[in-house]
This record gives sequence, structure tokens and C-alpha cells, in this order.
Amino acid sequence: MVDNLTELPGVGPSTADKLIEAGYTDFMKIATATIGELTDIEGISEKAAARMIMGARELCDLGFKSGADLLDQRKTVWRLSTGSDELDRILNGGLESQSITEFAGIFGSGKTQVMHQACVNLQCEDKLLMNEGALNEDELKEPKAVYIDTEGTFRPERIVQMAESLDIDGQKVLDNTFVARAYNSDMQMLFAEKIEELIKSGNNIKLVIVDSLTSTFRNEYTGRGKLAERQQKLGRHMALLNKLADLHNCIVLITNQVAARPDAFFGAAEQAIGGHIVGHAATFRFFLRKGKGDKRVAKLYDSPYLPDSEAIFRITEKGIHD
Ligand SMILES: Nc1ncnc2c1ncn2[C@@H]1O[C@H](COP(=O)(O)OP(=O)(O)OP(=O)(O)O)[C@@H](O)[C@H]1O
Ligand SMILES: [Mg+2]
Repeated sequence: MVDNLTELPGVGPSTADKLIEAGYTDFMKIATATIGELTDIEGISEKAAARMIMGARELCDLGFKSGADLLDQRKTVWRLSTGSDELDRILNGGLESQSITEFAGIFGSGKTQVMHQACVNLQCEDKLLMNEGALNEDELKEPKAVYIDTEGTFRPERIVQMAESLDIDGQKVLDNTFVARAYNSDMQMLFAEKIEELIKSGNNIKLVIVDSLTSTFRNEYTGRGKLAERQQKLGRHMALLNKLADLHNCIVLITNQVAARPDAFFGAAEQAIGGHIVGHAATFRFFLRKGKGDKRVAKLYDSPYLPDSEAIFRITEKGIHD
């Protein structure tokens, strides 16, 4: 969808065409662009770029908000059960909308399983936990998930298996889950951008999953020299995910790999990759580790208002549960 960009201050038809050609098709893209990005387009001065951005921000209602407005916005937060009461409990009730929740851990720790379960639970009415007024009728109608799969580990059979154990129709879950296989970081970012279009064309996207956030970046940007570029791109990707969460009241879940900490004399020997960029953008951060048998331990750390704590859950053929 293309907005009528000539509504912006200082933008006539020819500038509008140039903006659209450069990919700035709607107000939101311009509102969240930097001056430097817009001045890369021929004929747009710094001053003009600044005016457009401010104009777009006003149109998108992205300005200062009062604390009271923010409190009103918090009232629309809703939650989705992870499948484990223990895990929900340390999350203060479940996975939270309007924020990004990260699950990091080594291979086989259960990150992908948690993601699959979230897609299934989204279709299960009693797993949607909300306060009054959190979601209106339209938002409750056929909620859909987007699963950006960068590792090729999305398994429809597993979705069906988990759905059946909850007595819900596996086919319905699959119908309401858009899966996009991203083979590189550009595709991954593009798919994230396309979510906005899915929403505009009437899909009620309420859950966005990126599994995994960092693997493509890690493969493509190797070596110190590429680090700044990688972090910049990752930062843009996270900003976009945050925006989706905020503007559309979605739950955003990301998985992350871990790397050994070279300076680990004390404390954890491993840390989630992606550095501060990912750390700041994610609201809730979990470490998953394997316990005995099918047990898993989830450690919540780095949350803005919840204490650090641990939960134990299980992964069986039924899915995630206590
Ligand atoms: N159908 C199933 N029944 C029981 N347990 C299962 C089933 N499918 C997966 N699991 C459990 O989940 C584990 C795999 O977890 P998962 O794929 O979520 O790991 P991950 O953290 O995503 O790993 P990676 O870093 O490799 O992506 C398996 O080792 C197994 O213990
Ligand atoms: Mg996985």
C-alpha cells in the first residue's frame, strides 16, 4: 500500500515519486527513517528531510506521549500462555504483547519448541490471557502468526501434534500461521517489512516469531571488520520488530544462539549473541538450558519490571507443559 506522500510538508508529486522509488512508500517508513537515509535520495536536502520526517511522525502519531497515555496503552497489553504455568508465572502471566521476548540457549534447549507452541496456543482461546479491553472484537477474530524461519526447522507435523494434544484443529493452526523461510539476512529483514503489508491487507497478525534472529547475521558478517555493519543492520531489524509490537499490539518472540564468554571467570559461561543492540531491544530475555530428561530450565534475566527468576518446564510429544 502506498500513502499519499504529497500530504507531507514540502513534498510535491516529483519528490513523492522519488521517495516511493527508493522504497519509502508510506508515512511510517518516513517517520522512522533517519535524515541521512532520506538525503541519499537525489534532490532531498537535509532541511527538507527533517521536515518530512517530522511531518510523517505527526501523521503517524509518533510524538511525545504523556505518562497517562502510556498507562492507557499498557491497559491494552494482553498475554499468551507459553503452555507451562511455571514459565507463565515468572512472566507475570504469560508472553506479553507490545514487547519482544527473547529465548536464548544452546542447540536442543527447546527454543524452537517454545515458538511452535506459541503458534498453537494463539489458536486456543483459553490460552489468550487478557485484561478487560485488552483486545477488541476485531483483534480477537482469527488471530494469525508469522513465523520467520531462518534455520529451516519449522515443522508443520509438530504443530499438528501439539494441537491435537490440546484438542484443537491442527489444520486451523497451520492455516493461521504464515511461514517464511529466510535464507539470508536480507530476506529475513524483507519478510519482517512485509508483515506490515499483511496487516494492511486485513490479516490480524498478533504473533511474530523470528527463529533465529541472529544465525543469518552471524554467518554473513564474520570477523571484526564487519561487526559495526552487522550491528547496524541488526539494530534496524530489531527496531522494526519493536514497532510492529507497539503499533499492532503483537507479541514478538525471537530465538538467539549463545556464544562462550571469553571473560567468564565468574557468572554465566555463555551469553546470548547480538550484544547490546539485541539486549536493549528485547524486553524479556530468557536463557534456556537442558535439565534431566525432558526437563528444561528457563532463566529470566534483564526484565524492566520483573525479578530475575527460574522456571522448570518439560518438552514432551504434547509440547511445552509443566
Ligand atoms: N515430538 C517431540 N516429542 C518430544 N520431544 C521433542 C519433540 N520434538 C522435539 N522435542 C525435544 O525438543 C528438542 C529440540 O528442541 P529445539 O529444536 O526447540 O531446540 P533449539 O533450542 O531450537 O535448538 P537449535 O539451537 O538447534 O535450534 C529435542 O532434542 C527433543 O528433546
Ligand atoms: Mg531451533
